[in-house]
Amino acid sequence: MLSYQHAFHAGNSADVLKHWTVCLCADYMIQKDKPFWYLDTHSGAGIYDLAGAEAQKTNEAHHGIHVMLRESEEKLPEALHLYLRLVKRLQAKHPHHYPGSPWFAQQILRPQDKLRLFELHPKDHQHLEKHFRQDRRCRIEKADGHHGLKALLPPPPKRALILIDPPYEQEKEYNEVIKSITESLKRFATGTYIVWYPLIQRASTQGRNKSGSAENMLKQLKRTHSDWLNVQFCPDTRIQGMFGSGLFIINPPWLLAEQLQKGLTALAHYLGQDTHSRISIESNN
Ligand SMILES: C[S@@+](CC[C@H](N)C(=O)[O-])C[C@H]1O[C@@H](n2cnc3c(N)ncnc32)[C@H](O)[C@@H]1O
Repeated sequence: MLSYQHAFHAGNSADVLKHWTVCLCADYMIQKDKPFWYLDTHSGAGIYDLAGAEAQKTNEAHHGIHVMLRESEEKLPEALHLYLRLVKRLQAKHPHHYPGSPWFAQQILRPQDKLRLFELHPKDHQHLEKHFRQDRRCRIEKADGHHGLKALLPPPPKRALILIDPPYEQEKEYNEVIKSITESLKRFATGTYIVWYPLIQRASTQGRNKSGSAENMLKQLKRTHSDWLNVQFCPDTRIQGMFGSGLFIINPPWLLAEQLQKGLTALAHYLGQDTHSRISIESNN
């Protein structure tokens, strides 16, 4: 077994949106010869076993990556091809497994590029080490990703793609993201930052609607920079709990919005529940 931690969410529709977008952005970064760094503040385990007991409990991939993999490539927009080819590349070696964000980046990066990965959970960190330590471009730290990011900015090549993907298990994590982005932009205003966030509908223990946390975070993130894109995909808006997810992207690559629009329409078609699904792309310029 390659990995099991957090496998219960692996390959769901939120992962499809996030990892597809990471692939698109990394692919844009390699269009220029100049090296760049990929920074992942919350890296996870790197590879997940979809056939394992944890993943089988919720079987979230069944409504996510498994649906996409059943479709023939010709039917899907080109914008999704790289992402799906990479998933198939992993599965050719390790059937029933699904890659995490660092694995996608690792496949796209060139010899001159570098990966810097942070993961706090001891077991996830152990798995990351196992999968990535042979790669000389890659450094893995068992440390807080927000602190780690701060220490690395600006990166020596002055080009970077940064994924901030916390679990949001605690309310304070929304504020940590705002703080992290605000401080990071002071050090490195030209980086491409991707912040993942959940869209949640449920009463919290204080009786408040928890979707407010993400909304408030977004409101503040929009004030941190003038060039951003906000992408959301809700496969089924009727779901209580996490009914969708979003990505707030600062300094998005040129034409990313166009690519996302094409791919999102396909995601809504294949993963969405008819009239109850929703996609949106909001941009500031
Ligand atoms: C949503 S998962 C990351 C998934 C991964 N980015 C991917 O897309 O494959 C969040 C991870 O963050 C880790 N984590 C939580 N708080 C952290 C922190 N302050 N710094 C670094 N990692 C943290 C958790 O252990 C968990 O593995």
